[in-house]
Amino acid sequence: MSISPAGFASRVVRWQQEHGRNSLPWQNTRDPYRVWLSEIMLQQTQVATVLDYYARFLARFPDVKTLAAAHLDEVLGLWSGLGYYSRARNLHRCAQDVVAVHGGEFPRRAQVLQTLPGIGRSTAAAIASFCFGERAAILDGNVKRVLTRVLGFDADLASASNERSLWAQAEALLPEHKVQEAMPRYTQGLMDLGAGICLTRNPSCLLCPVRELCAARREGTPEKYPVRTRKLKRSAHSLWLLQARSGDGAVWLEKRPATGIWAGLYCLPAFESRDALEAAVPAEGRARLQDHAPFLHVLTHKDLHLHPVAGEFTKSALRRAGGAWFANDEWAKLGLPAPVRKLLEAAA
Ligand code: ADE
Repeated sequence: MSISPAGFASRVVRWQQEHGRNSLPWQNTRDPYRVWLSEIMLQQTQVATVLDYYARFLARFPDVKTLAAAHLDEVLGLWSGLGYYSRARNLHRCAQDVVAVHGGEFPRRAQVLQTLPGIGRSTAAAIASFCFGERAAILDGNVKRVLTRVLGFDADLASASNERSLWAQAEALLPEHKVQEAMPRYTQGLMDLGAGICLTRNPSCLLCPVRELCAARREGTPEKYPVRTRKLKRSAHSLWLLQARSGDGAVWLEKRPATGIWAGLYCLPAFESRDALEAAVPAEGRARLQDHAPFLHVLTHKDLHLHPVAGEFTKSALRRAGGAWFANDEWAKLGLPAPVRKLLEAAA
């Protein structure tokens, strides 16, 4: 059975109005700056975590011009702990492009929004539909789950052509009437269904407004969707982190290169082996290095085994390119990888 777009969209819209989330801080505004910021923060992070970051970020950078004029280090500092720091770097570049290329106003159309750094097709559609009522389809991970189930779409999403086909079907389901008013609710409704009802495991089908249209529910196996064969290849990696302190309690931090892990963040000097770490420290401190318990830090594609090694040095002894000593009240404001911040806080 194919789904009537009108029936599907109107159910989602009505349900969103009654049962969806309607008072999140980035709702009830059509300011694209606020909506854009929330969508970027929410890309890989839960609503509950984003709330505090969003408020702090907006207090410091209330509009796109303020953000564009800021130093990247301060942006990364306010992002610290949210993870996926390329989001923060792109956010900053995007703000600068909006100011330099678009006269300080966000473009209104998804097609144009998509050309900006960090704004993919789905995020562009979310901004354009929330702020300008554009009839544009979103398709993030949650929405893929909702739509593949409703449609009974069992083609493998590892294939680009199947993915394109799902996009086309997502577009065919968009509201066709009163588009301007319907689109923000429809978009939010799909997000709300994905986050609260159409869960990966044990979806709450009885509460779902489109259960009567849903192919997966008819089949009785909603959990088999979405189908994606390619598994993420995970790898493991060990790093030794030099936790160097000076007599007055300052710590030595170095800015990471612009690409690779923790790009652009400040970090403890990191080495591929214990020997490499030892070779890099001045002889005076070598004998008194202390190994602390290694711990696991899980990244998207990688398990990082981190081995902290602490040592005390006179300030003039440690000389490494790209680094400096930072007092407690200085490093706390820097953009630091989450595990490094934890280590420093534990030792402060
Ligand atoms: N996740 C992505 N966008 C969202 C939004 N607008 N509200 C709640 N969760 C979201």
